Amino acid sequence: MDLNTIERNETDSASQSAAAASAPAKKVFVKTYGCQMNVYDSQRMTDALAADGYTATDVIADADLVLLNTCHIREKAAEKVYSELGRIRDMKAERAAVGREMLIGVAGCVAQAEGPEIIRRSPAVDLVIGPQTYHRLPDVLARVRGGEKIVETEYAIEDKFEHLPQPKRAEMIKRGVTAFLTVQEGCDKFCTFCVVPYTRGSEVSRPVAQIVAEAERLADAGVREVTLLGQNVNAWHGKGEDSMEWGLGRLLFRLAEIPGLARLRYTTSHPRDMNDELIAAHRDLPALMPYLHLPVQSGSDRILKAMNRRHTAKDYLALLERIRAARGDIALSGDFIVGFPGETDADFEATMDLVGQVNYASAFSFKYSPRPGTPGADMPDHVPEAVKDERLQRLQALLLKQQQDFGLGLVGSTIDTLIEKPGRQAGQKVGRSPWLQPVIVDEKAGEIGDIIRVRITKTGYNSLFAELA
Ligand code: SAH
Ligand code: SF4
Ligand code: F3S
Repeated sequence: MDLNTIERNETDSASQSAAAASAPAKKVFVKTYGCQMNVYDSQRMTDALAADGYTATDVIADADLVLLNTCHIREKAAEKVYSELGRIRDMKAERAAVGREMLIGVAGCVAQAEGPEIIRRSPAVDLVIGPQTYHRLPDVLARVRGGEKIVETEYAIEDKFEHLPQPKRAEMIKRGVTAFLTVQEGCDKFCTFCVVPYTRGSEVSRPVAQIVAEAERLADAGVREVTLLGQNVNAWHGKGEDSMEWGLGRLLFRLAEIPGLARLRYTTSHPRDMNDELIAAHRDLPALMPYLHLPVQSGSDRILKAMNRRHTAKDYLALLERIRAARGDIALSGDFIVGFPGETDADFEATMDLVGQVNYASAFSFKYSPRPGTPGADMPDHVPEAVKDERLQRLQALLLKQQQDFGLGLVGSTIDTLIEKPGRQAGQKVGRSPWLQPVIVDEKAGEIGDIIRVRITKTGYNSLFAELA
């Protein structure tokens, strides 16, 4: 799993929330684009709105409030929002014709990056709210209902997490046995292709006590697997229970003590922040799953430098050696960009070469998309689209082959699987392998939330089939 893939990670968050029983409940439809941090934020906004009398719906035409939680990482991701807004505007008009209101809100990274421009381009939009101010959503909505249009994109001085209400226990139980928990937000790295430092602001780490309390609530609601999230999660350095500054490794050791939490993960990490303590956590904590998303973007030192990644290909490979020495069964996942300005054939071959050396269990790869305001956009020697296409195809063919080989390599072996949900087909349940593959088992193999030993019998396109060991 990776933090940032936009097109592949859209979810309509339609979890029901207990609304005030008395007043007829208003309904909110939330659509989430982008990375897991947006998925997490959408849930927390849904929780804040539940406290304000809104129930979630997955029928957009029924919604009194439509909220798009958006992503700005590539041009395609951002443009999607405007085409969606076109459709919603028509629905708003239809509802208005029968005397019913539909408020339209844009949240997330497009909101932060484009602010008032969104209302200029799409006048049907009533509110624009940036990721740092979600705790103010109920107040903002009250003003919007009073007829104002609002753009709220200041970086708030107060901590949004401290002010966002937690979901009710019943709601948490409904959300299932795996959960996200944002521990860090923002980024200070300023890779030259990336909008995140501008849309999410500078790095903020939540304190240990807050994180532990949230993790304990999740465990109490039956959650077995928690993924810690941050744009730069391994740069997390929060105030510890002893008032000292802790790093992510130490936090993982602490979270592993919580009864019921059997599995821990974290994403997305930067190679420069993989320190000894974190590597030791991979060595010593069975709960820390042997799967690491560690994007490298390119295998060419020249391009890595132009991207401001501040490490070389050799540094990355040496780091992987240390991590693999600590945890032999660790599998790697990564992100790649092809066609960064100035990328030559030789640079691209260096990327192919690095991928060949690493052997990824899964990976995400993208064509470089120039983003306004980032240094990369103004660099010379942009790569023609056709060349980007060709490179992406070659890279993806290699990565897909590695992913399939990884799955095939598991056939016949016995692994732990966390049973997550009923399968799409009757008689099946779907679990999760330590390496995040869906594992299809007989429904009688165990109950949701159980971790069972299974033998892998064959692979599907993206999944594994297994029988009770
Ligand atoms: N914090 C993570 C990545 C965040 S963005 C890290 O440092 O690795 C998620 C992924 O989107 C990136 O890893 C990168 O591969 C891709 N990406 C970011 N900006 C992009 C752009 N302008 N064009 C194409 N891909 C981009
Ligand atoms: Fe973007 Fe680089 Fe920060 Fe990752 S580390 S979020 S790619 S600026
Ligand atoms: Fe997209 Fe913002 Fe996440 S730009 S990838 S939603 S941090």
